[in-house]
Amino acid sequence: MIHEVGKEFYMIRSAEEDFHRNIYLKRFVGSDGKAVNLLFDPGTRLDMGTMLPMLKEKAGGIAQINLVFLSHQDPDLTANIGTVLASAPRSYLITSVDTWRLVKMYGLPEKRVRTVESFDSMVLRMKKSGHRIRFVPARYCHFRGAMMVYDYESRVLFTGDVFGGVDTRKGDGIYATEDSWEGIKLFHQLYMPSSKALQKTMEAISMLNPFPEVIAPQHGDVIKGDLVIEFMDRLSRLQVGADLMEENNPEVDLAILGINNFLELMGINFPEIREKFLQLFQKGNEFTSPFEFSAGTVSGIKISPDNALLQVYSMIGQVEDKEIQQHLRAIFMDSMDQLDIHFNVQEEKVDSDDILRDNDSMNLDDLLE
Ligand SMILES: [Fe+2]
Ligand SMILES: [Fe+2]
Repeated sequence: MIHEVGKEFYMIRSAEEDFHRNIYLKRFVGSDGKAVNLLFDPGTRLDMGTMLPMLKEKAGGIAQINLVFLSHQDPDLTANIGTVLASAPRSYLITSVDTWRLVKMYGLPEKRVRTVESFDSMVLRMKKSGHRIRFVPARYCHFRGAMMVYDYESRVLFTGDVFGGVDTRKGDGIYATEDSWEGIKLFHQLYMPSSKALQKTMEAISMLNPFPEVIAPQHGDVIKGDLVIEFMDRLSRLQVGADLMEENNPEVDLAILGINNFLELMGINFPEIREKFLQLFQKGNEFTSPFEFSAGTVSGIKISPDNALLQVYSMIGQVEDKEIQQHLRAIFMDSMDQLDIHFNVQEEKVDSDDILRDNDSMNLDDLLE
């Protein structure tokens, strides 16, 4: 499905439910009806099936692409670049010097690139149509040479990974709600290396004139309306990356998300068992329970994230019906997989006989000469 997030600013989203990639196309249409087509962060081979129809419908095909912008060098947005440049032979790649230094390793032709830094005041003016776009550095967010692009016509700011989020909003649609914040927060805590860098990037955005109406990130939800200022404000105060190493731990948020994911999926299939689990979680008093609750979901854990996950996993063993146990284990592992949590089932308690037997079969002397 193609979404229009601003004037002639189109978007498609990859099919994953937990962590989308967004690919955008902006058309700068001149008074003669001719357009300059700019493609942002063109994704991976997996995205060809959704990206090509958008390019066909909106630009007349991939060969009509004139400019391709890369926000930084990560494979989730650059893996396709060689194919795109080859399929659009008149197109130019635009990216920062720092990004170019790395993406040229794909074997891209040097004469097809224009670096962002080569444009006067980092503003690109389209000769034919008179449109302007501004490149805005997002230093160390999360890459040294990361760049954003501001389209003055639509007042859409394409931000790359900045403002990206894992999906914590329920339902269809592409626009952020308050529920999107948890996913945005988690993504930034995990991926952005420094709170100071994030704060500087928010400052750079706040200096744009006119102020952007729409924030279009490469992952997660598109942000517009009051949430633009609101989320900018929260991000400029958020502790992320290295600043969290001593204090909070983003793995905790990830584990909470995983447990809630599991509880929700369990609720769909086995609502009565979910109720029992919730009762068990809250057994004892507030102090002795390893979980904190608000509105029927886990909002905090008082133990290490690994132990919290292990605790939930081992509770599945208390369910009487063996078949349901098996289902629940599969649901649990799915919930972990969805968030890329590496949960090691081996840590489950096994009795000493099992340990002895395991050790016997793992004897190195039997395996090596
Ligand atoms: Fe990235
Ligand atoms: Fe990304």
